[in-house]
Amino acid sequence: MAVREFREKTRQVLKKYQQDKSALIDILHDTQAAIGYLPREALEEIARGLGIPLSQVYSVVTFFKAFSLEPRGRHLIQVCMGTACHVRGADKVLAQIEKELGVKAGANTADLRFTLQTVNCVGSCALGPVVIVDQDYYGEMAPEKVSGMLGNYS
Ligand code: FES
Repeated sequence: MAVREFREKTRQVLKKYQQDKSALIDILHDTQAAIGYLPREALEEIARGLGIPLSQVYSVVTFFKAFSLEPRGRHLIQVCMGTACHVRGADKVLAQIEKELGVKAGANTADLRFTLQTVNCVGSCALGPVVIVDQDYYGEMAPEKVSGMLGNYS
């Protein structure tokens, strides 16, 4: 996507919210959904459109983990590495996902199909090891279940 498209998509979102400063988080959310992440050009457009400093926009983006300043894959995989999941073999599940995708945690696959991340406890310890793909929770994960799980996403 070109820089001009980033600006155009951001302007459409700003228009939808009628340049309402109090809707900053919703505007960021919708912009990220439209572009896939929040490039600098989009943040500049938002700051200009709302009449607020760029630093204020950045501080909100960096505060919320849901926002990304880097391109992300179409699907976000989060592998829980909290204590309960760890003792049940989360490291083996992560290693299998890394092997099948050919990337380490923290990276995107080359085709931008997936972004792989590790997280700490997601509050479902009894189901550990837990992997979350987008909004889907996979409990009691095991290395042999990884291939089937990944196959659910294109
Ligand atoms: S440690 Fe993984 S859900 Fe709590």
